[in-house]
Amino acid sequence: MEPIALLKDKRIVLGVTGSIAVYKAIDLASKLTQAGALVDVMMTEAAQQFVTPLAFQAVTGRAVYTDMWASADSALPTHIAHVALGEGADLLVIAPMTANSIAKLAQGLADDLLSVTALAARCPLVFAPAMDGGMYSHPATQANITTLIERGATLIEPDEGRFASGLVGKGRLPDTPTLIGQIRRALARSGPLAGKRIVVTAGGTREPLDPVRYLTNRSSGKQGYAVAQAALDAGAEVVLISSASLQTPIGAQLVAVDTAQSLHDAVLEHSAGADALVMTAAVADYRPATQAQQKIKKSDGDLSLQLARNPDILLAVKEMAQRPKAVVGFAAESENLLANAQDKLVRKGLDLLVANDISATDAGFASDYNRVTLLGRDGSQTAIDRSSKSAIAEVIVEHLSSLIVKGSA
Ligand code: C5P
Repeated sequence: MEPIALLKDKRIVLGVTGSIAVYKAIDLASKLTQAGALVDVMMTEAAQQFVTPLAFQAVTGRAVYTDMWASADSALPTHIAHVALGEGADLLVIAPMTANSIAKLAQGLADDLLSVTALAARCPLVFAPAMDGGMYSHPATQANITTLIERGATLIEPDEGRFASGLVGKGRLPDTPTLIGQIRRALARSGPLAGKRIVVTAGGTREPLDPVRYLTNRSSGKQGYAVAQAALDAGAEVVLISSASLQTPIGAQLVAVDTAQSLHDAVLEHSAGADALVMTAAVADYRPATQAQQKIKKSDGDLSLQLARNPDILLAVKEMAQRPKAVVGFAAESENLLANAQDKLVRKGLDLLVANDISATDAGFASDYNRVTLLGRDGSQTAIDRSSKSAIAEVIVEHLSSLIVKGSA
């Protein structure tokens, strides 16, 4: 697991309760720790019937709390465990959370370390119910969940599927990436882009020749998805317009497109009045002039293709009545990188341009790494040496934040 800037040194109190899904919480605690968070686990009596505290201690490298009467580790703010755990915590996550613990928190009961800590903590609460049979849909559980949500807690909805009992229904703890995605959303709520709407495009477009073939390019969509995730981590509302089939970041609204024309239409629709548009997509400049209705048959001779020009989306955005407040473009160049990029910045009316040299073999298309230079409208240049696409996305989003929040690059 790669470090996640948003999680770095965040103190997350992870409460685990007595559900068979508690084994998945070990993976959650491990991945959060690998991502950079400081995870303090507290376990109910019932949770310890399924796994031992040692398992959590091993993956977090920190003390695990089980006893309401024991003292807190000296690294925490006070020696009173239930106060110390909540004090200064960034987030309280309870996963898996049984119907019993949900009922206790809804009622404000405080008879074990987890329920006392939940009462004492002042940080936001995220909870992931997990229970077998019809317990999740029972009106009592639903009413208790509603009570917690009304008090400001964030519900991570359980998945549907097969339970340990063999029954099928809603009540399974979601997988770790989903839990981490929801935790990121909760932590991002007070980020610099909170309340801002950012439209991000990603992936290479596909231009059909006939019902089975298309023209495309080598763009994987990875850089665009990383930008979408970084904008989410900064608290933005994100519309991701994409032709790629990667995992949609939790919290992004996905608009699926394929051709340059469909991308053009989606961009004009969704970016009207938006705070920013980040055009990471590699848009095909040409499409087959005609699309054959039937599969093109092979014949002995060569086949010629007539190509028609696609619209330039950024030029169309430049003319919009409700143009997004900031527009970021990308330039993938194989020669004269900075001169071509500077020309695009001006011609396409951009606030920021991300130039990448696609002639390198250790970064760029399909790779998890990139090497870019950011060119600002004000003439600023920021070169970023080979870094992960997520690290580059974070720098792009920082520039974006200063453009739309402070009004300067
Ligand atoms: O293809 P080109 O190098 O001109 O792309 C530079 C920027 O323009 C990119 O941000 C790309 O998404 C955008 N673009 C566009 N419409 C096109 C081609 C590219 O908006 N038809």
